[in-house]
Amino acid sequence: MDVDTAPKPAGPLLALRGISKRFTGVRALDRVDLDVHAGELHVLFGENGAGKSTLINVVSGTFPPDEGTFQFGGEDISHLTPQRARAIGISPVFQEFSLVPSLTVEENLFLGREITRGGVLHAREMRKRAAALIDELGFDLDPSQRVDDLSRAHQQMAEIAKALLGRVRLLILDEPTASLTERETGRLFELIARLKSQNIGLIYVSHRMREIRALADRVTVLRDGRHIRTLDAATSTDSELVELMTGRKIDLLFPTITHKPDKVMVDVENLTSADGSVRDVNFHARAGEITGIAGLVGCGKSELIRAIYGIEPIASGTVRIDGRPYEFPAPRRSLKRGMAYFPANRIVEGLALSRPIRENASMTALDLPAFAGFGVLRQAAERIAIKGVMEQLQLRPPNIERPAGMLSGGNRQKVMLGRALTRELSVFLFDEPSVGIDVGAKLEVYEFMKRLVGTGAAVIVVSSELPEVLALSNRLYVMHHGRIAAELSGTEKTEQNVLAGFFREHLLAEVA
Ligand SMILES: Nc1ncnc2c1ncn2[C@@H]1O[C@H](COP(=O)(O)OP(=O)(O)OP(=O)(O)O)[C@@H](O)[C@H]1O
Ligand SMILES: [Mg+2]
Repeated sequence: MDVDTAPKPAGPLLALRGISKRFTGVRALDRVDLDVHAGELHVLFGENGAGKSTLINVVSGTFPPDEGTFQFGGEDISHLTPQRARAIGISPVFQEFSLVPSLTVEENLFLGREITRGGVLHAREMRKRAAALIDELGFDLDPSQRVDDLSRAHQQMAEIAKALLGRVRLLILDEPTASLTERETGRLFELIARLKSQNIGLIYVSHRMREIRALADRVTVLRDGRHIRTLDAATSTDSELVELMTGRKIDLLFPTITHKPDKVMVDVENLTSADGSVRDVNFHARAGEITGIAGLVGCGKSELIRAIYGIEPIASGTVRIDGRPYEFPAPRRSLKRGMAYFPANRIVEGLALSRPIRENASMTALDLPAFAGFGVLRQAAERIAIKGVMEQLQLRPPNIERPAGMLSGGNRQKVMLGRALTRELSVFLFDEPSVGIDVGAKLEVYEFMKRLVGTGAAVIVVSSELPEVLALSNRLYVMHHGRIAAELSGTEKTEQNVLAGFFREHLLAEVA
């Protein structure tokens, strides 16, 4: 990456004054001021729908503000376009991915800024630079792979790499760690420290308090599109931030879940997926408890539940649901067998963005071809139920007839979770349930799982967030390279033991 080593400007690197932005029916930003200094990491903190991504979009030239002024490097900026923003060194990594799925990582990196020699694409040079950049970042990413073949975490890495190609003065990261695990997160944090020492300014959006603590110099709290306060990270407390964010006091603890393990609802024997990402796995989940699955990116934990649900083809092994063999799992049949699945990649797999939230939140959406088959009566009942659940999850704005595409990232995730409302289901598979959800809503989601378990459902939670999966689960599996590396319960269920399970390479190699 090229680094701008120009002397630090006297004033702030970025200065926003009175920025407002309206969407149909919503005032996303209401006269917001923000200063970001060179070498500073400035966190934007706020509930889902508070206006964080909108602010980032304004700064990156995605759309113009309705009012307000904007200075960058001491110069007045108007009529900003994404191209112009990049040219002056404003480099965003958006919450929703922007890569072209059918192209490779390196093609994406150089898209729109291809290196040519004598008017001809200089593929070798681009390949070399892409590899050098990825190497410098320390990401385990193959630049010649197609983006649609990559896991979400690897797509995230590619997005970050793309933002760092070229001259960067302000790097903007909108929930960059949402799908990274500890290892990649660590790499990213090292990178951030380097960028700061090179006097690059950073805007960072996260709902994770631990990250804010580790990284932030200052925090700006937004609520309902308004600037509430900007604080020094060092002198503010978590509860102070959360209180400013929500306007009320919130207890930040995980709920106490009483697990009452009952009969085995999901029983998996010697399961191997067709692509080998799951290998010879034995696993079970019981009614009345939360079963957790932890592991690094690419360990096969998501693929395991996807295989059970019928999205990941199975090569061999057996799956039993509620004691009965379940051959050739397929999503629609899984639903009929009482299983619900909540994907981590809510955009690609989950939501019909042009359809209302109500339809998206309904279980029928998981069963798309049958959409039209449901009767009018059922729809009316559904509307009431969905309204209730979405209120509980604090949907913002609380209108279930808006298209899902108009929602902020975290609110989209809530819509996915809203699907769990259907009562007849007995098995719930959650892949990264709290990705992108604000602190208050996260607690609601946990409460929600607690209620599911209380009513005797089997809940399986795949999560890269260790504190989350440790706190929620009664029994915890740790996966490594497609296999179960450990099963922990009771007092063995500690962060240390999970981490030990992550790195049991040699031990497992012997078994293989
Ligand atoms: N393209 C759009 N069309 C209509 N409304 C939008 C659009 N994008 C955002 N909004 C609305 O603007 C408000 C702010 O959304 P924004 O995406 O900035 O929230 P956010 O703070 O990033 O939330 P999250 O933490 O969930 O990502 C929300 O009420 C959202 O519904
Ligand atoms: Mg957002």
